[in-house]
Amino acid sequence: MVLVLAGIYCLSSFLFTWESFSLLFAVMLKSYDGRPAYNHTLALTLVEYTSAVYMSDLAQLFTWTCERCNGLTKGFQVIEIIVDIEYCLQAYVGVAKDLNAIIIAFRGTQEHSIQNWISDLFWKQLDLNYPDMPDAMVHHGFYTAYHNTTVRPAVLGAVKRAKKFYGENISTIMVTGHSMGGAMAAFCGLDLVINEGEENVQVMTFGQPRIGNADFASYYRLLVPNTFRITHDHDIVPHLPPYFYYFPRKTYHHFPTEVWVRDLSVLKLVRFGVEKVCDNTGEDPTCCRSVMGRSISDHLTYFGVDLMCESWRQCNIVMSNEVERYSRKDSKGNIFLSRTVPSTETNTLSKTGVSSI
Ligand SMILES: *[C@@H]1O[C@H](CO)[C@@H](O)[C@H](O)[C@H]1NC(C)=O
Ligand SMILES: *[C@@H]1O[C@H](CO)[C@@H](O)[C@H](O)[C@H]1NC(C)=O
Ligand SMILES: *[C@@H]1O[C@H](CO)[C@@H](O)[C@H](O)[C@H]1NC(C)=O
Repeated sequence: MVLVLAGIYCLSSFLFTWESFSLLFAVMLKSYDGRPAYNHTLALTLVEYTSAVYMSDLAQLFTWTCERCNGLTKGFQVIEIIVDIEYCLQAYVGVAKDLNAIIIAFRGTQEHSIQNWISDLFWKQLDLNYPDMPDAMVHHGFYTAYHNTTVRPAVLGAVKRAKKFYGENISTIMVTGHSMGGAMAAFCGLDLVINEGEENVQVMTFGQPRIGNADFASYYRLLVPNTFRITHDHDIVPHLPPYFYYFPRKTYHHFPTEVWVRDLSVLKLVRFGVEKVCDNTGEDPTCCRSVMGRSISDHLTYFGVDLMCESWRQCNIVMSNEVERYSRKDSKGNIFLSRTVPSTETNTLSKTGVSSI
């Protein structure tokens, strides 16, 4: 089943804007095989949520006033930010009233250079049996980043608070993330279904590495069917850790459904954005696997949106005095900003008193 979205950009403009693309030229074809349908507008929205989790100014993120907290995500109410200093992870949970959804977003790695992180990906072992899933193996590092850090209890606690306050207005939980954050999003989505009994969980990841073997992918596909794994052109990360097609049950194996997004152009004048919704195997050989995939820059931009910090550095964050009353630190220095009921008052915080931690 192949779905293609294609559009032609304004000839007068060399600028490649995905939003005008979607407004003017998107043609949605229906999925006929019973799988959840890919929603291009939702992908454009979730990529903006995923971009915002890279912001290091926690006050601006908490009040949703950061420069990336705009556009399709306007009006979002953050109820929890988690900064795990120990493992250098960042995530947030909030409510998008326009989508009637809780959004959970995970940041990608920020620990060392992206080049180092990517070269390490080659050697990740399938070394952990996913609990209660016979023969399902995953890489322990991706698993523990979500399951064995401060992230999981804080995320689940925030989801409970959001559901309590917004009640019936919440119809879906959408989990998203980029790169390493995409791996965490997948484990979070699975956790919400298996351990929290959530029925309406959607996962959308951008440039996610492989996280488990074929058995794991089969379980995952049954448990979280509404999952889309967006891959961009020659992005290297979805190719890692490697898949060996002559050993399909022994090596890493992606879960479905991949959506391969390509930037094409004719004579560099007419630009096409082409999206291909791939097959239900997770390893569609006609999608990103049909190219070598060696690009780091394609990894750092999805739909024209930057998915990285302003700069690479060690887990640097900025906090203002005014949001400090929402914050607490645990004994290891991990930081949490929490509230139950979103207040409008914090949206008018001044920008004075910013301190670096
Ligand atoms: C796609 O997602 C958008 C939100 O991003 C939503 O408004 C729209 O109704 C969705 N379309 C379909 C067909 O579900
Ligand atoms: C999680 O952490 C606990 C305690 O630190 C440790 O005993 C356990 O082995 C860890 N689990 C994994 C899968 O790494
Ligand atoms: C739920 O939605 C209704 C209708 O849009 C709105 O009036 C109400 O304030 C919402 N409840 C909360 C807690 O946001």
